[in-house]
Amino acid sequence: RGPMKVTLLGCGAVGSGVLDHVLSHPELFELNPVLVRNAGSRADDRRAIFTSDPHSALAGDPDLVVEMTGGADGPAELMLPPLRNGQHVVTANKAAVAKHYDALHDAARKGGAQLMFSASVGGGVVVLERLSELKSKGVVAVEGVMNGTGNFILDQLGQGVAFDEAVAAAQRMGFAEADPSADVDGHDAADKLSILIREAFGVNLPPEKIAKQSLSEVSAEQAQEALANGQIYKQIGQCRLGAGGVVDAEVQVRAVPQDHPLAGARNEENRFLLTLSNGDVCTLQGKGAGRWPTAAAVFGDMMDIRRAWACDGAAPAHASSVRSPLRADDALRSA
Ligand code: HSE
Repeated sequence: RGPMKVTLLGCGAVGSGVLDHVLSHPELFELNPVLVRNAGSRADDRRAIFTSDPHSALAGDPDLVVEMTGGADGPAELMLPPLRNGQHVVTANKAAVAKHYDALHDAARKGGAQLMFSASVGGGVVVLERLSELKSKGVVAVEGVMNGTGNFILDQLGQGVAFDEAVAAAQRMGFAEADPSADVDGHDAADKLSILIREAFGVNLPPEKIAKQSLSEVSAEQAQEALANGQIYKQIGQCRLGAGGVVDAEVQVRAVPQDHPLAGARNEENRFLLTLSNGDVCTLQGKGAGRWPTAAAVFGDMMDIRRAWACDGAAPAHASSVRSPLRADDALRSA
């Protein structure tokens, strides 16, 4: 087959990286107009045709729609019709996947479309793929540093940087959400935890039902004092499958000893611990936020879908990936 017709919805930090990948492979992808909030502001960007009209972006029945906008309900509204129509969808949007998991999956099933969202959790870390591989061994708990911005802010506080300055730096570096309170108050981590719970245990625990602590409860002084005492503050999302299929989950902000398995995540890194029923723990680590790691995760899903599409619609193997250069440091060790 020739190039796959693709629509990009959103061209922010991640979308712009994906756009570059797509333009580097004209033999694989043919680009529709790209949806942006303000097309007028893109007059000098010659990489593509930009539009603020979703209908123009989605015109001509693209084979693949790649959603990288913000919010939850609006993006879901954009993804549902293509899925029902049999058009494949890749999204990096954790809020939309967490909130509309069932509707999106139902639409994909009914339309016979592929829905992939590797980039929604872990950025460049292949945590959803590894979960899928380990599921048959019985995953009983997932724990992790799953918000790069939060981790970056806590590291900055430890270096004596004031809270607001640390948030502003995370925004400048393209780690933070458009509204950084999603990172600071644990909503972004709760969205990711909700998706991990679905994928690990098949349980629906909406993000709003997950208790969260805010990073704003930690001052630079506290972060520095913890370091002086051999501890480090982390924002940790954790969930455990209990009796009767009940899942306990929360997003905590707490100081852990420097030899804790999650203590080593630095700056925007994410780190995950997947505990199996036999006690083994799989550790994954890598860049959890930022343009290029996340764009690589999105492009990995796009390539999986394109490969299957080129083979006349075979379903992509969830775990296959083109992300080997960015693959997390992945080790299986005994607990
Ligand atoms: N704001 C998110 C984070 C982006 O900092 O982890 C990646 O999901």
